[in-house]
Amino acid sequence: MYDLAICGGTAVLGDAVVRCDIGISGGRIAALAERIDEARQVIRADRLLVMPGGVDTHCHIEEPLPEGGYQEESWESASRSAFAGGTTSVVCHTTQEKGGTLLERHRSNRERASAGAMVDYGFHQIVADPSDAALAEIPALVADGIGSLKAFLTYDNVHLDDAAFLRVLQAAKRNGLMVHVHCENYDAINLAVSTLLANGCTAPKFHALSRPPVVEREATARAIALAELVGQPIHIFHVSCAEVAEEIARAQARGVAVKGETCPQYVTLTAEDMDRPGFEGAKFMCSPPPRGAADHAGVWSMLRRGVLDMITSDHCAFSFEGARGKAKNGRDAAFDVIPNGVPGLAARLPIVFSEGVSKGRIDLSTFVKLVAENPARIAGLYPRKGVIAVGSDADLVLWDAERPVTLTNALMQHAVDYTPYEGLEVVGWPAATIRRGEVVMQDDVVLARPGTGQWMPRGPQAR
Ligand code: URP
Ligand code: ZN
Ligand code: ZN
Repeated sequence: MYDLAICGGTAVLGDAVVRCDIGISGGRIAALAERIDEARQVIRADRLLVMPGGVDTHCHIEEPLPEGGYQEESWESASRSAFAGGTTSVVCHTTQEKGGTLLERHRSNRERASAGAMVDYGFHQIVADPSDAALAEIPALVADGIGSLKAFLTYDNVHLDDAAFLRVLQAAKRNGLMVHVHCENYDAINLAVSTLLANGCTAPKFHALSRPPVVEREATARAIALAELVGQPIHIFHVSCAEVAEEIARAQARGVAVKGETCPQYVTLTAEDMDRPGFEGAKFMCSPPPRGAADHAGVWSMLRRGVLDMITSDHCAFSFEGARGKAKNGRDAAFDVIPNGVPGLAARLPIVFSEGVSKGRIDLSTFVKLVAENPARIAGLYPRKGVIAVGSDADLVLWDAERPVTLTNALMQHAVDYTPYEGLEVVGWPAATIRRGEVVMQDDVVLARPGTGQWMPRGPQAR
């Protein structure tokens, strides 16, 4: 007698797409069978796809802001948004301040998440100041289930020069961690920003001109070269176009352990969106910036080739109107003081499914690999997460592949007042989300309670 059975659906089991019932007990998948009759609760999934819950390993949730306070997207609101879009696990970030410790922030981050989260969660540890004291704290973080470090090669206050980045790579190697990298050239961006501002070019659209693809390509090539030198695997975050992914492909071809992710914004948005009138362009500002419409096909091609192996959201939500939002410095603020980032937790699976599967660019198994299995693997969460297999957590999304939906901000169920995908037509939408055997979203209604999300220790602990 199972606790729950999902019956009549078509399940995506790795490379196989098969009609199969799923028996769930104690929050885990207990059986995959042609027919399951004995369960305390049965959910019919006829005409629905059954896939692993989305695993989003690049999110920014309730992070501290430089001006004090926290991001508007709380653990509770982000969890609601995640479930609304079929995602059940997230990996976010713990920031280190220059001169600050790692462990203290890690502990307070865990406390905040444990109080509010409904999704299961983990963290990448950002290292902004790889002092001896900070690096000495890493073994304690690893013992607590941290599996990765994050390095920024740009942004004031967190960017690392080559010497500091090398120290992070070496520390990761000593501790058996993955390193995720934001690749853009800090000095080149600063030069472009000051030149643009000096010429009166302040509108949001100049954000794209201040960080063209070459700025991202150079930093990507450099990060790969330094990782190759140290012999440390790296993962390049938010690759915006094929020109950058080509650097990853060249390194992969010579045997370097480098992987890359992209995000829905790089297959849907464009630099022209940042030229929308009335300061609306600010809604589309993220780094790296969206490129041209012609670049979208290049990103899909890199995904099909496996050069890029996952699509995460880089969910980083700032409202448009709010006191901590995009227009916090006024609607005539220069682009360099507009907060960077776009919300995308709920939109990720629908956009990737619609643009990818419904439009024939990728098949169903590739979809699941991109949004669940590969993120879980690189985060050290597989096979607990990211797969429908006996023994795995029963994190599932029941998916209506035929349902047409026009994206609206209300459907995103996040805390902020806009979505950059407003009005986008998609085909394919989650009918229900199940987290560890519990229905947490049905027909767009989120049913979970804050504080029910679980900490996900990573690495060997995940098995
Ligand atoms: O613009 C972005 N991507 N904001 C979030 C922070 C980051 O760089 O990932
Ligand atoms: Zn980044
Ligand atoms: Zn990010």
